[in-house]
Parts: sequence; structure tokens; C-alpha cells
Amino acid sequence: MSIDIKNLSFSYNKGSSLEKTVLDNVTLSIKKGEFVVISGDVGSGKSTLIRHMNGLLKPCSGSVEVDGILAHQRKVRSKVGMLFQFPQKQLFGKTVLEDISFGPSNFGANALDVEKHVNEALVLTGLDAKLCSLSPFSLSGGQMRLVAMAGVLASKPDYLILDEPGSGLDLENRSSLFSTLKQLNSAGISIVVVSHQVSEMLPLADKVFLMDSGKLVFEGNPQEYMSSVSSHLPEITSLMKGLHARGFDVRTDISNLDEAFDEICALWKSREGIHK
Ligand SMILES: Nc1ncnc2c1ncn2[C@@H]1O[C@H](COP(=O)(O)OP(=O)(O)O)[C@@H](O)[C@H]1O
Ligand SMILES: [Mg+2]
Repeated sequence: MSIDIKNLSFSYNKGSSLEKTVLDNVTLSIKKGEFVVISGDVGSGKSTLIRHMNGLLKPCSGSVEVDGILAHQRKVRSKVGMLFQFPQKQLFGKTVLEDISFGPSNFGANALDVEKHVNEALVLTGLDAKLCSLSPFSLSGGQMRLVAMAGVLASKPDYLILDEPGSGLDLENRSSLFSTLKQLNSAGISIVVVSHQVSEMLPLADKVFLMDSGKLVFEGNPQEYMSSVSSHLPEITSLMKGLHARGFDVRTDISNLDEAFDEICALWKSREGIHK
């Protein structure tokens, strides 16, 4: 079970004078159950890439398959849930309940199952059931994002794809989002997070992809990413790399403050020992 992208190339406005190649021969695979981070500069093609994974865009050449089915076929829609960068744009219902239940009803679930899936989605996202009768547009930005996520989860996707999910959220909302993603991943849902700021995501990731100008330029686990990539690194990793480049014998595959602190203290102590 996996999302398999083979030699995918894509241009917007194909055949017109505005034609622009945005994805160039991308090949990658995301296995069921993995937590994947896709990193890269703004404009490197990340959003265009993920829009191929649930058939919103069709390859100009190459192929995208989800569990062996071509991604633009309708039955893929319920397998791959997509949360856009501005989830407010995904909301449309008169009430929160109408919004969250749209997916499972649309994919043919019966009334009992719809209710069950909606309740499960409310629990997973931590949304208060009392909000169900309100208009989604009367909620705060953070709550709207949770309603959009609940709507996607109610369709029981096997793969959940999120485009820049941390943007615009304060620290508290971001950490609650990350713990929800961790929980969903433990429940067996594959998580694909697109982010141009990867630092908070790396500890959760099994695999990281780096896009540059439409090309996939790196694929590996977070440790490999931190030691072999020079851009799009967490600030702590850049600091450790800077120290290492200046001759200090420290690990460079560190992304969190506590580990960096311990590593620098250990170095300090070993140097004190030398100078005694
Ligand atoms: N609908 C569109 N029509 C034409 N060009 C687009 C469209 N959407 C994105 N692009 C262009 O494609 C490139 C990649 O965009 P995108 O996939 O959004 O990158 P990212 O998500 O990495 O920021 C950018 O140069 C962007 O301007
Ligand atoms: Mg984008």
C-alpha cells in the first residue's frame, strides 16, 4: 500500500505562451503508515506535487498511483484527504456539522456511519461537539482549521496530506496540531506534511523529501537530511553544523535545543579536562 509517483512532470498552461514547467521528472514513494515531510523553497513545486496525489492535477507525463490505482480516478478521493494551506477556503457548510459530514455522505456512507465518523473526527481533532450547530465562518482561525481537518478525517482517509499546516497558528495551536498528527499516524494513517519550515516536523518524520525548482533533490530519514542537506535546516542544526565547520567536534544531526545543550556541555567538559 503506497503512493507511487513515477517520472512525474507537470507544466501549468501547457501549450500556451505562459507554459511553465513546475515539476521535472519526480519519482518518489510514500508507504502506508509513514510520516513524511516535504520541504523546499516557496515556488519549488511542493503544492503542485501534492495536488497530484489526490488527482486534483493530472500529470503531463509520468504517473501517480495510490494503492495501485491512478490518482485521478474517483475512488482515490476518499483514500487521500487533503488539507489546504488556507483551510477556510475548504469550508462551505451552513453549520459545522454539515461541513464535517459532507465527505462521508458524499462517499456513500449510511446515516449511522456518517454520525459515527463525524463523532470520531470530533474526538480526534478535539473539537467541542457544541460547535456543531454554529456556522464554521463564525469560528476562530484555529477552530476553522480543525473543522476542515475533521471534515477530511470523517471520510476515513488512509493518507492525510497537509499543505503548510503550521502557518498562521500560534505556538499552542501548532503543538496541539502536531500531537494530533502524531496520534493519527500512530492510528495507522500516513501523514504527508508540506512545510518550508521543517524544524518542528523533523522529530515526527520517518522520511524527508526536499524539492528544488521542481526537482526532487533529496530523500532520506531526518538524520540523513540534517547531515547531508545545507539549506532548509532547523536553526539548531545550522548552529551545530557551523560549530563543526569551525573545528568543534559536535554532532550535526541534532534539531532540538536540549540535545544541542547536552552536546555543547559535553564538548566544554572534555576541553576543560584537556586544559587542566
Ligand atoms: N495555478 C497556477 N498557474 C500557473 N502557475 C502556477 C500555478 N500555481 C503555482 N504556479 C507556479 O508554479 C510554481 C510552483 O508553485 P507551488 O507548487 O505552489 O510551489 P510551493 O508550494 O513549493 O510554494 C511557482 O512558480 C508558482 O508561481
Ligand atoms: Mg505551496
